[in-house]
Amino acid sequence: MAELEAMIDYAKDSAALEQVRIKAVGKKGILTEYFSTLKSLPEEEKKTFAKSLNALRKSFEEHFSTKQKELEAQELESTLSAQRVDVSLFNLRSKQSIGHPVNYTKDKIIEYFTRMGYELCEGPLVEDDFHNFTALNLPEYHPARDMHDTFYFHDNKLLRTHTSPVQIRTMLAQKPPIKMICLGETFRRDYDLTHSPMFHQVEGLVVDRAGAVNFAHLKYILESFLRYMFGDVKVRFRSSFFPFTEPSAEVDISCVFCQGNGCRVCSHTGWLEVLGCGMVDDNVFRAVGYEDVSGYAFGMGVERLCMLSLGIGDLRSFFETDLRLLEQF
Ligand code: PHE
Repeated sequence: MAELEAMIDYAKDSAALEQVRIKAVGKKGILTEYFSTLKSLPEEEKKTFAKSLNALRKSFEEHFSTKQKELEAQELESTLSAQRVDVSLFNLRSKQSIGHPVNYTKDKIIEYFTRMGYELCEGPLVEDDFHNFTALNLPEYHPARDMHDTFYFHDNKLLRTHTSPVQIRTMLAQKPPIKMICLGETFRRDYDLTHSPMFHQVEGLVVDRAGAVNFAHLKYILESFLRYMFGDVKVRFRSSFFPFTEPSAEVDISCVFCQGNGCRVCSHTGWLEVLGCGMVDDNVFRAVGYEDVSGYAFGMGVERLCMLSLGIGDLRSFFETDLRLLEQF
């Protein structure tokens, strides 16, 4: 027994301690063997011998578990000190400065239009009914209001559903000529593969004397913008309707995924819708007190342009803050 205890005391780690355990109480261990001799002893000796054997085993187990705890504590201490992390160390692979694809697209759009002489304007996110709807030729009860799935507050306040109210604010604050773009957050109650409750729009507005701005100017600026964004694509203008423009058009580009041959993304039409535009409706000019002017306006979704130019399938992934997506750009 003294020998076993000495072996326990000398064990340097758990593996060595385990060897002692096997030597004592393993299949062929010393104590195990003593226990197996019990059978062959005469009845009267059996009892006393069993008693002393049990006492030995108990003392062995106590000695063993004290040492076991001691070794475990030592081993934990040494792994902890080996894996110590210096939290004050500067992280050279910091991911904080990865650009977001939506920001990248925003910057690219701003770069194009500012170079073309457009002034960058801003407006509030919490709008009122007048700027978001009424002044844009969408009077109360106009059916097109329903399409906007608006978030409303009290007192006629709402989260702007498009960037078009910035047209109104700019015209009320300045005299023509005007050549502006606005880029910012817009909100609608919508959530699926291609919609999120917050998204970004770009708005463009050009106003000058009557007859000085026409549809050909609009067509030129948008065609060249879309080729700047998407490279060599076909562009087509499709007649459409917006309350604030007349005539109005929606603009499509040939599908960037199948080069216009037809695929799942373009619903096998070969075309992708990218923006809305038109000549500013006279009722809008009247609402801001402009006379004898002509103008065009256009609006587009930044996330949509970003998804198409970078081939991202789910708009919601932009807002899930998953670095694995961001790391790809
Ligand atoms: N405001 C429109 C929308 O959100 C887009 C648009 C802007 C259309 C300007 C025409 C002119 O759908």
